[in-house]
Amino acid sequence: MKINIFTEKLDELKVDAVVVFNERGKVAIRGLENEINKKVDGKISEIIDSGEFDSSQDNFHYFYTFGKIKNIERVALVGYDLGRGETLNSMRSAAAVVVKSLREVGAKKIALIMPSVRGWSMADSSRAIVEGSLLGLYRFEKYLDKKSTKRLSEVILVGEKKDKRTFEKAILLGEMEASGVMLARDVGNEPSNVLTPNNFARIAQKVMLENKVGFKVLDHHDLKKEGLGLLYGVGKGSENHPRLAIMHYHAGKKYPTVAVVGKGITFDSGGVDVKTSHGSMFFDMKRDMGGAASVLGLMRIIGQLKPKLNVIGVLPLAENMISGNSYKPGDILVSYSGKSVEIFNTDAEGRLVMADAMSYVQENYKPDYLLDIATLTGGVVQTCGPKLIGLLGNDNRLLERIKKAGMVAGEETMEFPLYQGYAGRVKSHFADLKNLSYKGPQVISSALFLQQFVEEGTKWAHLDIAAVMTQTGEGTYQTRGATGSGVRLLAHLLLGMAK
Ligand code: BES
Ligand code: ZN
Ligand code: ZN
Repeated sequence: MKINIFTEKLDELKVDAVVVFNERGKVAIRGLENEINKKVDGKISEIIDSGEFDSSQDNFHYFYTFGKIKNIERVALVGYDLGRGETLNSMRSAAAVVVKSLREVGAKKIALIMPSVRGWSMADSSRAIVEGSLLGLYRFEKYLDKKSTKRLSEVILVGEKKDKRTFEKAILLGEMEASGVMLARDVGNEPSNVLTPNNFARIAQKVMLENKVGFKVLDHHDLKKEGLGLLYGVGKGSENHPRLAIMHYHAGKKYPTVAVVGKGITFDSGGVDVKTSHGSMFFDMKRDMGGAASVLGLMRIIGQLKPKLNVIGVLPLAENMISGNSYKPGDILVSYSGKSVEIFNTDAEGRLVMADAMSYVQENYKPDYLLDIATLTGGVVQTCGPKLIGLLGNDNRLLERIKKAGMVAGEETMEFPLYQGYAGRVKSHFADLKNLSYKGPQVISSALFLQQFVEEGTKWAHLDIAAVMTQTGEGTYQTRGATGSGVRLLAHLLLGMAK
């Protein structure tokens, strides 16, 4: 599907539908919206006044023009609500609803009258609309015998000439970001019988090759030889052997280096401490690689936009399974950093694989910043699900930057304290550390565990995306299944750092 711009006279516009956005509580229709309203004899304001269409979030309505506007078959109206304190997600959501609904009624070519959104610049709001449209149209139909045939061929942003450059930039950035998110969704929606650690690494290799980003992979022999005992230990119970994939984008020595590590457990059975099957959590555990998916999506964006920043994406990939060769409660594993870890619960595998990947990238690439993103704890689902990302770290400036990037990108975070009073809870008697604290909040203790692998001087932040990795139900721009959460936040953060 193409996204184009139109800044000429409305009479020259030829589309199956033209879309008017309407803010809740704002009845007055101005500008281009009003031009359309006049052409349909005030029908838009009539609909709004009738109360049938209340302009609330995602409320959608359309009618035929019956020739009242030459070359435009339908007029659609979609509401957005800025009162929900939800960043520009109300625009993403409205755009997604309208493009999806119009696609379903068979429209091919639609025009969006770009609204000027209260409190936001045209650059930010139009980018959000582009993102919402593309992300809302996403479908994962690879395994369906009968795929849907309805398709939009063109979305046109309609506005004034003075905003043309702004729209061009919004399309460029919006398309780039959406393609990273959709890549993350594609791998996130793959079932674990297909997306094994090895296959994940191959996909990453292919994408990096296409984008001219360096790539390297360690297989299970390498992991053992090089001493990544935690990643090796978690992965050894599965016939689908573990991997460590490294994607390396190099801009130049004079620029700072950011490492981003993403948890890539392609299926988390819980291991010997097997999960219970009630609820939908177990089913969702094919998506315990959401962090790695986001890092892959991010690296594609980085490869395409080529910012002035060195970025290393690291994916610890493993399947947490039960077999005669699985790691067990009570086992002691030695990490790449040299610290030993006593296993208290094999279901707390995420922090183990993350720890080794974090040590590996610090030792071999000396990053200035270390970010990690993981579907790490059920605790974050209970405390800030289903929309917020858990955030912890050791550097306030970095944390502030992340919060801001999350606000602009529409992926909001909730900060937890990295409370050192609980640090003793990850210490063990027979090993240096243990992988589970029985007491206290898991979100904090899991981060305290990871902190044990952050080297002196490294600015580090941890994003727990367990609550946001899956959209249950159809949703708007998030769509059913894998959300690709974290890609937009990380892209905004890194592009901001490169300025
Ligand atoms: N992959 C899970 C965390 C998770 C839970 C992700 C729900 C997405 C949705 C993680 O490996 C896990 O099992 N965590 C346990 C740890 C516990 C055994 C200490 C948890 O948080 O319940
Ligand atoms: Zn687990
Ligand atoms: Zn897990």
